[in-house]
Amino acid sequence: HRHLLGIEPLSPPDITAILDRADFYADLNRQADKHNDVLAGMTQINMFFENSTRTQASFEIAGKRLGADVMNMAMQASSIKKGETLIDTALTLNAMHPDLLVVRHPQSGAVDLLAQKVNCAVLNAGDGRHEHPTQALLDALTIRRAKGRLHRLSIAICGDIAHSRVARSNIMLLGKMENRIRLIGPPTLMPSQISEFGVEVFDDMAEGLKDVDVVMMLRLQKERMDGGFIPSEREYYHRYGLDAEKLAHAKPDAIVMHPGPMNRGVEIDGTLADDINRSVIQDQVEMGVAVRMAAMDLLAQNIRNARAA
Ligand code: CP
Repeated sequence: HRHLLGIEPLSPPDITAILDRADFYADLNRQADKHNDVLAGMTQINMFFENSTRTQASFEIAGKRLGADVMNMAMQASSIKKGETLIDTALTLNAMHPDLLVVRHPQSGAVDLLAQKVNCAVLNAGDGRHEHPTQALLDALTIRRAKGRLHRLSIAICGDIAHSRVARSNIMLLGKMENRIRLIGPPTLMPSQISEFGVEVFDDMAEGLKDVDVVMMLRLQKERMDGGFIPSEREYYHRYGLDAEKLAHAKPDAIVMHPGPMNRGVEIDGTLADDINRSVIQDQVEMGVAVRMAAMDLLAQNIRNARAA
């Protein structure tokens, strides 16, 4: 693959290859010297048109550990504010010969469009409600390391599924790897074409969480609710917020995940989120750096092969 735009075009062996490489980087990242200069001489530009803590920081750290020259575009201070379009911005940066562009954008499909206009590798760091492939890959690596496998697991994804690119990418990845997926949440926050996904749907946490191996919680993405129904946080926490009592319906060794940013007391109890016996939320962040190093390493191999051909 020339780009990493989504989970949709990846095959199970593609996914396994990224995770295997990421395991190598997860071990390297625990060493004193974290460098492996496979991107030496390459230029990586991060363009984030939407807020980010985890994804932007981890892509920057990943690029630097791999020896790339990394530039973070301050999009709020860019000429986008003077009316320059996304595509003209991309073409301008493309003329500076970057090798890797990492892009987050609020519109679904914007990153795919941009990838058609530039001649470097593009990595999707989240586009609207569409895909967040590196999030699904880091979630998969976290699950594989915690459970020892990434197939035949029962996985619940809970909350605001309709607005979530994280849910969409995870449903595709976990489905390709032959897991059983349950979506739990209010019907108002379920996508309309749910039947396409090959999942089970629940609106009751006790029922949906019964005997699952993995519980993945999601934030209410109010910024994408564009004037539609927004549930009250109190009522939402009561019915769908994960606490020890609701988690007791899952398997006794079920792990708790959250992609972040987390709203404590809305979709998850803060004490449970901090419980290192159940919560792998900080492992997800750690695996985020490893997965982004792996993805850029594999794309850089393609860039080198294409140049040598
Ligand atoms: N999980 C995730 O994408 O977090 P950020 O929005 O902070 O990057």
